[in-house]
Amino acid sequence: MICLGIEGTAHSIGVGIIKDVKGSCRILSNLIKAYQPEKGGIHPREAANHHATYIADLIHDSVQTADIDFADIDLLSFSQGPGLGPCLRTAATAARALALTLEKPLMGVNHCVAHLEIGRGTVTGCTDPVLLYVSGANTQVIAFAEGKYRVFGETLDVGIGNCLDKFGRTCGLGFPCGPKIEELAKQGTHYLPLPYSIKGMDIAFSGLLTCAENYVKNRAQMEDVCYSMQETTFAMLTEVTERAMAHTEKQEILLGGGVASNRRLREMIETMARDRGAKFFVPARAVCVDNGAMIAWLGFLMYNSGLRMSIDDSVINQRFRTDMVEVTWRG
Ligand code: ATP
Ligand code: FE2
Repeated sequence: MICLGIEGTAHSIGVGIIKDVKGSCRILSNLIKAYQPEKGGIHPREAANHHATYIADLIHDSVQTADIDFADIDLLSFSQGPGLGPCLRTAATAARALALTLEKPLMGVNHCVAHLEIGRGTVTGCTDPVLLYVSGANTQVIAFAEGKYRVFGETLDVGIGNCLDKFGRTCGLGFPCGPKIEELAKQGTHYLPLPYSIKGMDIAFSGLLTCAENYVKNRAQMEDVCYSMQETTFAMLTEVTERAMAHTEKQEILLGGGVASNRRLREMIETMARDRGAKFFVPARAVCVDNGAMIAWLGFLMYNSGLRMSIDDSVINQRFRTDMVEVTWRG
């Protein structure tokens, strides 16, 4: 079966085409176009305008790259939520229009679950992981338990990527700041104390963000502040992930989201995995970040398990929670 998936939850619009090959995912194409605001943060309506401008070309290019015809597509899927309303609506509208034109079925999928399933579908040996999903807007520790993907811990305020981006923007680093902070952190030598804020299994970053910004205002070395931010936030993420591993007794850790590119975070999670005798997986960057292939793959899994979605049921849900999804495709 061939499925075309459209991802449009936030600042990027992506179109991916996958084919299922004996239960695993073969990616035929996976194109992404990211909206870059000239200054400041992402304005949802402007990001949606960006997506509307590029989506038709992306669909055509994706079909061409996959070396298929439109008639070969068996299923259309799209990110139904969570995300920014105007962006979600743009992706959903494109998917509906394509489904109606091609007279093919449509499936809306949960974006966070898609991050986990693309790891299971594309990484050899990754079968039942605890996912540490770290992106701009999202920070969640997710694992399968009793028929659902459950959130074992998450941020109570901003996502880790947004925390890094906000800090960088205040300090004039330019968007996206995560990679720049990673480079500066390598030169940091002094650890500056920052709030380490874990509440139960959840995390909060906003106090730490204010404190880090104050260090910069008071002329601390930028390298030291970046280093201290990474050490503190990544230690919090590692602690919550380890607790979820212990609680669920799972033996695999999967990283997902744009922040999974960070070498220091990988190193800390990998060390924790090794100490527990667990396996550690990071998918290729192209499927870690928001992308259409993961949406296509989850659409396929859902459809293949017997689920169906009418156009009327395909309304977007900005607050679509991970544990609202009935997981019908896992035994
Ligand atoms: P979502 O809608 O899933 O929240 P998003 O569009 O905000 O996604 P991604 O594309 O998954 O996010 O990731 C973008 C984030 O990743 C940005 O906040 C960026 O700063 C961060 N990032 C990218 N590379 C690195 C890095 N090397 N170190 C730390 N953060 C990074
Ligand atoms: Fe994402």
